[in-house]
Amino acid sequence: MPGWPRRCGSGENDRTPEGKQVFKAPSLPLQAGMAKLHTEVMGTFQGEAMKTLWLTLGLLLAASSATAQAPDGKALYEKNCRMCHGADGTPPAAMLKMMPTLPTLNASFMASRSDDSVVKVLTSGTAKMKSFKEKLTPEEMAAVAKYLRELGKKAGDS
Ligand code: HEC
Repeated sequence: MPGWPRRCGSGENDRTPEGKQVFKAPSLPLQAGMAKLHTEVMGTFQGEAMKTLWLTLGLLLAASSATAQAPDGKALYEKNCRMCHGADGTPPAAMLKMMPTLPTLNASFMASRSDDSVVKVLTSGTAKMKSFKEKLTPEEMAAVAKYLRELGKKAGDS
């Protein structure tokens, strides 16, 4: 390639009289010096960069496993339960008319139920409420049960 320096760096590249290129190792002190500089510079750089990289990976992993472990109870309730039990746990009048047994999922009702019992009732279903066994995992049921407890506090006891 034209324009390339024939001799680069500290003159280690040389040509034999026949034009063959030979490579002479740089003098030892220079090599050692470069190696030391390289380790020092790259060492600190990699140290910091790697720390940041691992930290980022760690956070990403933590975030993804957190979402995997904790299903969104509110979203699941809105999707599967709200139509019968109401946005705040108070059943809409029209639903109550069709299903007079619909409980108001308020704090006092929830006080008489454990998260486990809610998971059980969702798994087995009731006379009017079909089983959610096929739709929700036990973890999702538990997340909905937790959300019912929050909802119960908001719904009030009237
Ligand atoms: C089709 C309407 C309907 C849907 C959808 C529905 N439920 Fe129900 N639910 C009822 C009725 C009606 C009852 C009262 C029991 C009965 O009469 O079968 C009830 C009872 C309950 C109870 C009280 C059970 C007990 O311990 O006595 C809880 C808790 C409950 N539902 C939670 C939920 C949750 C959480 C969801 C969503 C995953 C849900 N329900 C979806 C109609 C529904």
